[in-house]
Amino acid sequence: MIKSLIALTSLIISSLSLFGQGNNYVQDYTKFQGLALTPPMGWNSWNKFACNIDEKLIREMADVMVSNGMKDAGYTYINIDDCWHGDRDSLGFIHPDPERFPSGMKALADYVHSKGLKIGIYSDAGSQTCGGRPGSRGYEFQDAMTYAEWGIDYLKYDWCNTEGLRAEGAYKTITAALKNAGRPIVLSICEWGNDKPWEWAQNVGHLWRTTGDIYNCFDCIHDHGTWKSLGVMHILDMQEGLRRYAGPGHWNDPDMLEVGNGELSQEEDRAHFSMWAMIAAPLMSGNDLRNMNKNTLEVLTNREVIAVNQDSLGIQGFKHEVNDSVECWLKPLDDGAWAICYLNRSSEVKDISINWQDFQVTDEFSNRHFNPIRTPYKIRDVWKKKDLGKTERKMNYKLAGHDVLMFKLSI
Ligand code: GLA
Repeated sequence: MIKSLIALTSLIISSLSLFGQGNNYVQDYTKFQGLALTPPMGWNSWNKFACNIDEKLIREMADVMVSNGMKDAGYTYINIDDCWHGDRDSLGFIHPDPERFPSGMKALADYVHSKGLKIGIYSDAGSQTCGGRPGSRGYEFQDAMTYAEWGIDYLKYDWCNTEGLRAEGAYKTITAALKNAGRPIVLSICEWGNDKPWEWAQNVGHLWRTTGDIYNCFDCIHDHGTWKSLGVMHILDMQEGLRRYAGPGHWNDPDMLEVGNGELSQEEDRAHFSMWAMIAAPLMSGNDLRNMNKNTLEVLTNREVIAVNQDSLGIQGFKHEVNDSVECWLKPLDDGAWAICYLNRSSEVKDISINWQDFQVTDEFSNRHFNPIRTPYKIRDVWKKKDLGKTERKMNYKLAGHDVLMFKLSI
């Protein structure tokens, strides 16, 4: 008797809660909170491999990220970009390309997870992706449920073939779809900054592209005919004015890294990585992790530079001044510390002389003050990994073209 009463009560409770869930269903257009509290770090297939991807490549990248120390240095996401798609079936469900991903996405996600990493996927708000694969337009809720079932952790959502759509509404639809699917998935908004996502996306996505695509060069512009892609310095310049929109859980995304892709010199790779750290950019490596030289690995896994990027305050750095083509950037860090980076934009060697006693900066945005007269800071060269004493003495350097000098100053 008691047993059947208990059974009946639990049946009533469970049907009430089921009913309640259905009844309380509210379309929620806000992203999952608590994700990407520091800029996301990982690897993405696009910059190096474009559409030439398959499950073997993805598994190998996961293996290498673990074995080469990148995972220990903080890299977490293995992100599959465009062209993983096969067709939709008669019910509209999307399937991966059966030849390139024969084991299916669930198995691949399980594999990546078994390595202690997370997996990302790519779709598009329009009818087709930029690579001409099926887009999510009209299938948003179905796709989000599919990704959640596969165990996806990160979605990059592109903006090709979106005629007639407005970005804010379209991105809110996929946000609601992800929320409804119930799995916390980072949403990476990729509409190239066209509609100023920094103004409306703080509660919609966890990062948003601020520009068109990066190109593998230091300061060129590459003309594709109908669109242009931009070298590292052009992308950097386009971040002007955006720092106030970034913070934990919502980042400006100046696109993925070209470090190690062969066109940048060793100095330029270092400069690119340093500046992405200074502006609290997502650190998505975009090279072939299986075949990289020692220098590339050293750049990508420099923990002191990564720590600047991953600082818990999540304050994007800023350009403080420019002298004879040398830019001086600052980034406030936790515990009253600062990162300072000198970037030589010219191709000539420049003399740099730093007189800390003349160097005072107030960052009104974060209400922080850099004042070595009042507080002597300890200086650490984060590339040479050397302590350089305190801010009491002058320092003189010769800085190679396209190279950086980067310090952490702490109290
Ligand atoms: C767009 C994006 C790129 C990449 C390609 C894939 O150009 O901006 O980052 O995802 O599409 O086709």
